[in-house]
Amino acid sequence: MNVFEALTQRTSVNYFDTERSVDSDTVAELINYAQKAPTAFNIQHTRYLVIREQSSKDALKEIAYGQQKVADAPVVILVLADELGHERMPEIAQRGVDAGIYDAGVRDYMVGAVNNSYASNPASAHDEALRSASMATMNLMTAATAMGLATGPMIGFDAQRLKQALHIGERYTPAMMITLGYAREGNWPGKPRLAAEEVSVFDLKVGETHAFSD
Ligand SMILES: Cc1cc2nc3c(=O)[nH]c(=O)nc-3n(C[C@H](O)[C@H](O)[C@H](O)COP(=O)(O)O)c2cc1C
Repeated sequence: MNVFEALTQRTSVNYFDTERSVDSDTVAELINYAQKAPTAFNIQHTRYLVIREQSSKDALKEIAYGQQKVADAPVVILVLADELGHERMPEIAQRGVDAGIYDAGVRDYMVGAVNNSYASNPASAHDEALRSASMATMNLMTAATAMGLATGPMIGFDAQRLKQALHIGERYTPAMMITLGYAREGNWPGKPRLAAEEVSVFDLKVGETHAFSD
């Protein structure tokens, strides 16, 4: 399946086949595709908790206000946004030097820029981490679709209870819960979308007012 087909065929699945599992290698492969998503300065703020044990999924279902798909899907992935992800920048930037992509001067520039942008600006760090996690989530879901798998992105859960139940540290914000597995009968088809012409302003020039000016 090519990327256009995957983007078109992906839907949020409510009903999963409870008889078909997804192995850990496949989940790891999907996470590696998620990691291909861009992040500011390549900070890579996203972390993943993979839950497959039934009693744990049952507990998560309650935290997700009883949404049955959380118990039915063979895998639940909790995508976390690390709001202090920028603190790892020296090590991450060094990897680019080691790979021969840029030199130590570029590394030091990036480490400084990241420090200036986020170290004393928690609101910006929060937004950046959530942006990164959102992009990673979409990559993961597109890749899963291309593999014939089904996903459901969810934010309908009690974040505080979830953090307690899974012992998630203060610096991490749950960005998305993703149910992953194989679809069974009864799911809705793709829902209609607003067309490009309805949501876009084309050929805008600086100084012009437009549909989104009010
Ligand atoms: C941030 C976000 C949160 C969502 N939370 C839930 C949720 O808690 N439960 C649910 O059933 N669907 C949830 N969805 C799925 C949306 O309802 C779904 O994406 C939307 O209706 C469009 O349908 P489609 O994904 O099948 O195209 C969520 C989607 C997003 C992007």
